Amino acid sequence: MTRALNNILITGGAGFIGSNFIHYLSGQKDFQGRIINADCLTYAGNPENLAEIEEKWGGKRYFFVKANIRDHASMKALFSKYNIDTVIHFAAESHVDRSIYGPKEFIDTNIIGTFTLLESARESWKERDDVLFHHISTDEVFGSLGEKGAFSEETPYRPNSPYSASKASSDHLVRAYFMTYGLPATISNCSNNYGPYQFPEKMIPLMILNALEGKDLPVYGDGQNIRDWLYVRDHCDAVWTIVNKGKKGETYNVGGENEWKNIDLVRLLCRQVSDLTGRSSDEYTDRIRFVKDRPGHDRRYAINCGKIKKELGWKPSCHFEQGLLETIVWYRDHSPWVNNVKNGSYKEWVEKHYHG
Ligand SMILES: NC(=O)c1ccc[n+]([C@@H]2O[C@H](COP(=O)([O-])OP(=O)(O)OC[C@H]3O[C@@H](n4cnc5c(N)ncnc54)[C@H](O)[C@@H]3O)[C@@H](O)[C@H]2O)c1
Repeated sequence: MTRALNNILITGGAGFIGSNFIHYLSGQKDFQGRIINADCLTYAGNPENLAEIEEKWGGKRYFFVKANIRDHASMKALFSKYNIDTVIHFAAESHVDRSIYGPKEFIDTNIIGTFTLLESARESWKERDDVLFHHISTDEVFGSLGEKGAFSEETPYRPNSPYSASKASSDHLVRAYFMTYGLPATISNCSNNYGPYQFPEKMIPLMILNALEGKDLPVYGDGQNIRDWLYVRDHCDAVWTIVNKGKKGETYNVGGENEWKNIDLVRLLCRQVSDLTGRSSDEYTDRIRFVKDRPGHDRRYAINCGKIKKELGWKPSCHFEQGLLETIVWYRDHSPWVNNVKNGSYKEWVEKHYHG
């Protein structure tokens, strides 16, 4: 059966990875279809990320719809109005710290929202098998690693935070819809992403902006926690590879093969910022402060991405030092974007462009 790939519903397309994905897709010559971006614009959603796409393709090949994935009627209407044949589901509450202080939103969006979207797809697609529901998830569902080893697709789920538990639950629902109803679906579990348009509450943009603004650099605990960092464009490439070549019912782990202790990463970042500003590196490293650890802080994540490499021919391509430098330069050169995000005035941009 040939896959239809004409009308892609992207949920959460105004967030960090979703908006990078839409930029990526707009550059893919093999895709000539329509992109429907459904996002309810939480604090993390910023359609200003997509101003260029709106300008170029708005109303022709790109359609922004302010909608909540928890709203069954809106989701059903989208499937029908745009004849959706592919879903790439990014929308989620995504910040671990916020999940610790307020887990309810995570349960509502990540679990109930994913369920609602799956139901809408099942009801709209019925028995079609030329369609695909691709679910974006995280390596955090696997819990924490010791000093050795890496998460594979066979690693048992052991989520430790309300965020990872809600993502684990959504993964199980997607799998169950494939097994029970035959809904054509794939899942990817990816390691930590970095790159442009990331909301500055996350570690890398927070450190970049604090360094550039002369503020302290807060590092959790003893700084020895390890993450496997992947440039966001490489993640987008992996998602597009799975959407095109992935096998229905399969899960693919995606990672950067790039493990860094938090403290080493912050020191590298200090060196790179100092190269750009011409100030001494000590000026930045002296501002590193170890702060009270996050409760339930996973010690180490590492991804074995052998399956997607072997079966689909994808591999991470951006060298970390290069990707980090480009990210620092991007934040340095996009101060209007940063200021709008920080003072919330991008909400005015939304009012002007979508409601005014
Ligand atoms: N950031 C990472 O390092 C990383 C790594 C692996 C997996 N992921 C997963 O990738 C996806 C995207 O992550 P991100 O970092 O871009 O997140 P983000 O927080 O930057 O963006 C999330 C987007 O979803 C939207 N959204 C939230 N709730 C919604 C709802 N109920 N209805 C419609 N839209 C809603 C928000 O407005 C926002 O635009 C998430 O599913 C996340 O779990 C992220």
